[in-house]
Amino acid sequence: MKKAKVFFILGTRPEAIKLAPLVLAFLQKEEFEVRLINTGQHREMSTAFLRNFGLTPHHDLRVMVERQSLHYLTSRIMEELERVFLEERPEFVFVQGDTTTALCGALSAFYFRVPLGHVEAGLRTWEKWRPFPEEMNRVLISRLADFHFAPTVLAKQNLLREGVAESQIFLAGNTIVDALFLILNDHRPISHPVLREELEQEDGSCRFVTVTAHRRENWGEGIRNIAFGVKMIAEACPDLKIFFSLHPNPSVRETVLRELAGISRVVLLDHLEYPDFVKLLSRSLLVITDSGGVQEEAASLRIPVLITRESTERPEVVESGLGTLVGCRTEKIVEGALTVLGAKTPLRQKSYLFGDGKASWRILHFVSRFFGFSHEDVQEFQPLS
Ligand code: UD1
Ligand code: UDP
Repeated sequence: MKKAKVFFILGTRPEAIKLAPLVLAFLQKEEFEVRLINTGQHREMSTAFLRNFGLTPHHDLRVMVERQSLHYLTSRIMEELERVFLEERPEFVFVQGDTTTALCGALSAFYFRVPLGHVEAGLRTWEKWRPFPEEMNRVLISRLADFHFAPTVLAKQNLLREGVAESQIFLAGNTIVDALFLILNDHRPISHPVLREELEQEDGSCRFVTVTAHRRENWGEGIRNIAFGVKMIAEACPDLKIFFSLHPNPSVRETVLRELAGISRVVLLDHLEYPDFVKLLSRSLLVITDSGGVQEEAASLRIPVLITRESTERPEVVESGLGTLVGCRTEKIVEGALTVLGAKTPLRQKSYLFGDGKASWRILHFVSRFFGFSHEDVQEFQPLS
């Protein structure tokens, strides 16, 4: 039997996490020949996160340089992908989300006339510059894709509104929930020494808050305001411990370290591997973040989240009552945190907002049908309302 060669192109931390369960699903079906292509847009993080799922890339393009520009990234990835496409000749290509790697993967599939599946399709803020450059990346990927795997009803509606044919859209749920469930079932001990010590010492007298920040449009003043907010929250609540996971980007790290190093009960951690981060998140009462993936996980774990952004492509988190858009305004962040931490009544909550852990399975069977391989008939994801 001739196998169908399928490319999974990724380069950053969230793509590794969100594509890993899909790659694992395809590896189980012998009709497919899987090729995992890591552009290395994130040098350490992409490889480490694949390792968390027991995966090693077939091609590692190692494009990252310190403080890389968008032009540099795009041209290097395109050049390298051309070589890999010529060598491997894939028959189907997957990209995920809205990074530069995803856009370059989509454009390469188009140039080589290979069918393209877009995982996490249809997210929109409808604002060209927010987030930058991700909103325009995903709009462009949607124009190039042949199959759109939407995570939510709203994402599917967004694609229909842009004129994508309904037959090419499949509501699968978000594969991040598959990844989260896989990792929640993994009982490896914590690998980060500082986090391990902090969590082991914990005797129930402290409440935990998790913070992450990395968005390009928040660099500089935005990240500084988030850091001021964290400092004020720590001062206002003596029973809190605030864990700030630092993105390796020097433009982010330097600002956070300058403002928060040495502040009592604020623990600054080098970025955590996925199983460690999920353990921390699961024990947190509040999350403050500009990350898309962290919002989806917080919502799945029913943890309130302050979103340090001006607009969102995930309004579902806000509508569920779990999320509040606070921008990068210090007073809003502090006010939002004190409200959540002081709340006596539980917030309105939803589970399975973004998925039920079966998105990868649905996508696998959809693509199996496309190739005419044996497959199960799958229903679209039904979010709980
Ligand atoms: C990228 C994506 C963003 C995604 C984010 C996830 C683009 C344009 N941006 O943003 O959509 O939300 O990843 O985290 O695709 N660095 C390291 N080691 C690493 C990773 C990064 O040192 O493992 C440093 C490097 O100096 C690098 C810089 O961080 O130049 C920025 O990385 P880059 O991928 O360009 O941008 P992100 O802000 O991480
Ligand atoms: N994450 C992690 N370790 C950390 C911080 C985040 O494993 O120290 C994970 C998080 O659980 C989520 C993903 O990284 O799955 C989100 O990636 P990021 O915030 O970099 O990108 P975004 O989702 O905003 O594109």
